Amino acid sequence: MGLQGRNLLSALDFRSSRSHRTCLYKCGDACFKPVPNTSDNAYFGDLFTREYSRRTALRAGGAAVVTVGGASFLAACADATGTDATSATTQAGTDVAAPPGLNFEMVKPNTEDAVVVPKGYSSDVVIRWGDKVVEGAGEWSVDNQSVENAQKQYGFNCDFAALLPIEGKKNHFLLVSNHEYTTPQQMFTGYDPDNPTKEQVMIELASHGMSIVEVEGNDKDGRLKPVMGKYNRRIHGHTPFELRGPVAGSDLAKTSKDRTGKKVEGTINNCSGGVTPWGTILSGEENVDQYFAGGGEVKNAQARDRYKRYGMEDAETQRKWERFEDRWDIRKEPNEPHRFNYVVEVNPWDPTSTPVKHTALGRFKHEGANIHVTSDGTVVAYSGDDSRFEYLYKFVSSRRMRSGHTAEDRAENMKILDEGTLYVAHFEGNSADFTESGKLPKDGKYDGTGTWKKLLTVTAHGSAESHVEGMSAEEVAVFTREAGDKVGATKMDRPEDVEPHPTSGKVYAALTNNDYRGANREGKNDAPIAEWAPIQENKNGLVMEIDDDHAGEKFTWNLLLVCGDPAQAETYFGGFDKARVSPISCPDNLTFDSFGNLWISTDGNALNSNDGLFAVSLEGETRGQTKQFLTVPAGAETCGPLVFDKRVIVNVQHPGEDDEATVESTTSHWPDGGTSLTRPSTVVAWKDDFGVIGA
Ligand code: FEO
Ligand code: CA
Ligand code: CA
Repeated sequence: MGLQGRNLLSALDFRSSRSHRTCLYKCGDACFKPVPNTSDNAYFGDLFTREYSRRTALRAGGAAVVTVGGASFLAACADATGTDATSATTQAGTDVAAPPGLNFEMVKPNTEDAVVVPKGYSSDVVIRWGDKVVEGAGEWSVDNQSVENAQKQYGFNCDFAALLPIEGKKNHFLLVSNHEYTTPQQMFTGYDPDNPTKEQVMIELASHGMSIVEVEGNDKDGRLKPVMGKYNRRIHGHTPFELRGPVAGSDLAKTSKDRTGKKVEGTINNCSGGVTPWGTILSGEENVDQYFAGGGEVKNAQARDRYKRYGMEDAETQRKWERFEDRWDIRKEPNEPHRFNYVVEVNPWDPTSTPVKHTALGRFKHEGANIHVTSDGTVVAYSGDDSRFEYLYKFVSSRRMRSGHTAEDRAENMKILDEGTLYVAHFEGNSADFTESGKLPKDGKYDGTGTWKKLLTVTAHGSAESHVEGMSAEEVAVFTREAGDKVGATKMDRPEDVEPHPTSGKVYAALTNNDYRGANREGKNDAPIAEWAPIQENKNGLVMEIDDDHAGEKFTWNLLLVCGDPAQAETYFGGFDKARVSPISCPDNLTFDSFGNLWISTDGNALNSNDGLFAVSLEGETRGQTKQFLTVPAGAETCGPLVFDKRVIVNVQHPGEDDEATVESTTSHWPDGGTSLTRPSTVVAWKDDFGVIGA
C-alpha cells in the first residue's frame, strides 16, 4: 500500500492553507508582523504535556506517575460501558498491523466541504454557533441577532472542548467549549470593516468566551443532543472574573473602572485548555494583542517596549472595539492589557461561581494548560506560548491536591494554581553533528536534555519572589516573556498544546510550525535551526516528547514527529515506515485515547488538504505510526479533540473562512447544506456498531 492521497500532494507549494483573514482575526495578523521576540538569548553557542476513559483510569491505578486524584475523578468519567479490545489486528487495505486504537481505515487528504470519517463510522453535529445554551435564548437567524441572545447562545469559533460526565445521570454530560474569536464578515450581513456598529461589536464580545451545556447521549449510537440543564452557562467578554496571584491588586492591574486591580470584565481569545483532576476547566487566553489599540504611541519607552514585546503596537485595531469601549485603547487604559493573556479556571459545576484568572502561571499567549499530578499530590501545569520563537513553561504547585470531590475540596483545589513556582524551558541537543536542516544526526534521533529556569515563586498569602534580576515579582507575572528572555529561555517553533500522558507521565508538545526558523530573511527576526527545531523554514511542525522530572528542574526530550508529506526526506515518524503513514501538517491540539495513543488535531495544513485528526502510536514497533481519522470542511481547523472509547469529538472552527467569505457569499455551507451560511460547530463521530473507536 502506497502513501495515502499522494496525488493530492503532487502540487506542493508548502504554504499553510490558512487564509489571510484567519490570520487577521484569529491571531491578530501575527504571521504578517515582525516577531515580537527580539531577544538574542538561547541560540548562540548551543546549536545543539483530561479526558480519559474508564480503562485509562483503571490502568493508571497502579502506576507510580498516575494523576492521583485525577484517576479517581476520571474513573467516574467513562464514556460508556468499557469494551475491551486488546488484540492488534491488521489494517484493512494495508499489510501493517495497527495497535488497538488505530484500527480504522485512514481518511485520505481531501478538500471536501464536509466532515469525513473512516468507512464504518458516522458523525453528527452536536451544537452550532447560535444554538440555545441558556434558557431564554432566542432562535438564531443571521438577520435576527442581538447582544442579549448572543450571551445565551453557543458562541462563535469553538476551539477547546471538554466532555464531563454528570454524576448519577446516565448518558448526560457537560460539554464545555471555548469560543476563541469572531470573524464579523461571516457573522453579519453587510458588515463594513471600516465602520462596525456598536451592536455588532457587542455581539462579538458576547460570542467570545466559553459555553457550558448539558448534552444527552443514548445507548445505540454516539449522537449527543443539547438539553437545558441546571449547569448551562455562557461566559463571555463581559462576564466578571477574579484576578488571583501576584498581579491581583497590583498597580499594574488597576484601571479607572477597577481601582482594586482584582476584578476583570470578561475573557477573550480562549484557545485551548484542559480539565483539572478536580473537575474544573482551564482555558488559555491566547492572541489578546489584536484587541488593544495604541501600544506604539505610549510615551514611556520601557512601557512602549513592553507592549511591543506582546505584539501591541497598532494605533487602531482591525476590530475597532476601542471605538466603543475605552478599555481596548491603551492610550486611555494602559493597564487593561495586563488583565488578559492568562490561564483562566472555571468551575462548571457551579453556574453562579466567579471564574478565576491565575496570574502565577504568567502572562503570555497561553495556548492552554494541562496538568500532571505527582505521587505526592504536587500539581504541575504545562503551558506553551503560541507565537514564533516563544517559550514553553511549567508551574509547579507548593500546595498538594486534595483528592476528595466535595464542593469544599474543589474550592481548595482551585487555589493550587496560585501558589508555587513558574519555570521556563531551556533546551540543548546532544548531537554536535546536527548542522543540516532535516538531516538526522548520527545517533539517529533529534534528542537532548533540558533545564527549567525559575522565574517566579508565589508563597502562601500571595507574597511573591522574583528569580529574575531587575524585575519585581509582579513584573515577572505581567511581563513574563521579558522574564523568559532574561533567563535564557529557548526559542521554539510555536508551542501549542503541551499535554502530559495520563499513564506514562511523558509530556507531549505540539510545535505547530515556524516559517521564520533559520530563514535569514532580511528584516525578519529569526533563530537558526537547532536539534529541537531542526527544519529550516518549518512549514509543517513538530511533535516533541519530554521525559520530565515533573516537580524538578531537569528533563530529556526527543522529537516524536517531524511533520509533513512522508515522501519528503526531512519528515520523521518516530522511526516508523514512512510509506505507511498519513501526511500530517501543523499539529495543534493533543489528546490521548484509553489505549495510550496520542491523537493530534491540525491547524493550517500546508499540504493542500483540509485539516484533520490523527492517531499516533507511541510505544513498541508501531511507535510513530500515524493515521488520519477525520478531516474537517475546507477553511476550518480541527480543534479540541476528545477521544473516548466510543466517541470522538472535535470542534470545527472557522469553516469556510477565506479572504472573500461573507454572509452574502459563503464558500462553505457546512453543516446545514444547501445555500445555508456555514456555522462553527461541535461534532461527534462514532463507529456504526457503537463499538470501541479504532479497536
Ligand atoms: Fe489558537 Fe495557538 O492556536
Ligand atoms: Ca541526537
Ligand atoms: Ca490552537
